[in-house]
Amino acid sequence: MTLQVRPRLVTLEGGEGAGKSTVLEALRDALVAAGEEVVCTREPGGTPLAERIRGLLLEPAGAAGHEAPAPETELLLMFAARAQHVRGTIEPALARGAWVISDRFTDASFAYQGAARGGDPRFIAELERNVVGITPGLTLLLDVPVAVGLERARGRGGVDRIESEADEFFESVREAYLGRAQAEPDRIRVVDARQPAGTVATQAVALLRAYREALR
Ligand code: TMP
Repeated sequence: MTLQVRPRLVTLEGGEGAGKSTVLEALRDALVAAGEEVVCTREPGGTPLAERIRGLLLEPAGAAGHEAPAPETELLLMFAARAQHVRGTIEPALARGAWVISDRFTDASFAYQGAARGGDPRFIAELERNVVGITPGLTLLLDVPVAVGLERARGRGGVDRIESEADEFFESVREAYLGRAQAEPDRIRVVDARQPAGTVATQAVALLRAYREALR
C-alpha cells in the first residue's frame, strides 16, 4: 500500500495541554459556516471499538486489574485503533465529501511510540503505509513548552497513564513533532500555543481557510 494524501483530512497535534479541544471547535465552526459537512473525531478512538482500545491504552496505572502495556503492545494497539478509525469513520466521511478533523493521528505515534518510547521509526512508517494507508492534507501542530502544557493538563485533574510520564518523555515528544514539522513544512503548520487560547484558535482558523482556498 502506498500512502495517499486525503486533502479533506485535517489533523491536530501537540503535547499535553496544548489546547487542541478549543482549536478543534473553532476549526469545525469555520468549516460549518462555509457550508461544509464536518466530522470531528479523535485518536486513539473515533469508533466504538477504537474507543474501547483507547480505554485500555490510557487506563491509569493504579486502576484495578491494570497491566502496563509493553512498548510494542502500546504501538500495535494505537495502530489497531487507527485501522478501525480509518475504515469505520474517516474514509466513509471523506467518501461522502465531508471534512474530517481528527484530534491526533499517525504523527502522534511517531512522536510518542517512536521518539519518546524508543520504537523504530521505520517500523512505524511501515505500519503507516500498510495499516493506515492515508495521510492528512493539513496538520496543525500546537506547540507549547513542556512545563506550560503539563501544568495545564495536570491542572485539569484525572491524569491518564501517558500523561503521568516524566517530563523528559514529553520533551522527546515535542522535539519529534517539531522535527516532523521541519521535514514536512507544507503539510505540518506550527502554531505557537503559548498564546491566549483565542489567539491560537484565530491563527489555526486562518491557516485552515488559506489551505481550503488553495484547494479550490
Ligand atoms: P489526548 O486525548 O489527551 O490527546 O490523549 C491521548 C493520549 O494518547 C496522549 O497522551 C497522546 C497519546 N497517543 C499516543 O501515545 N500515540 C498515538 O498514536 C495517539 C493517537 C495518541
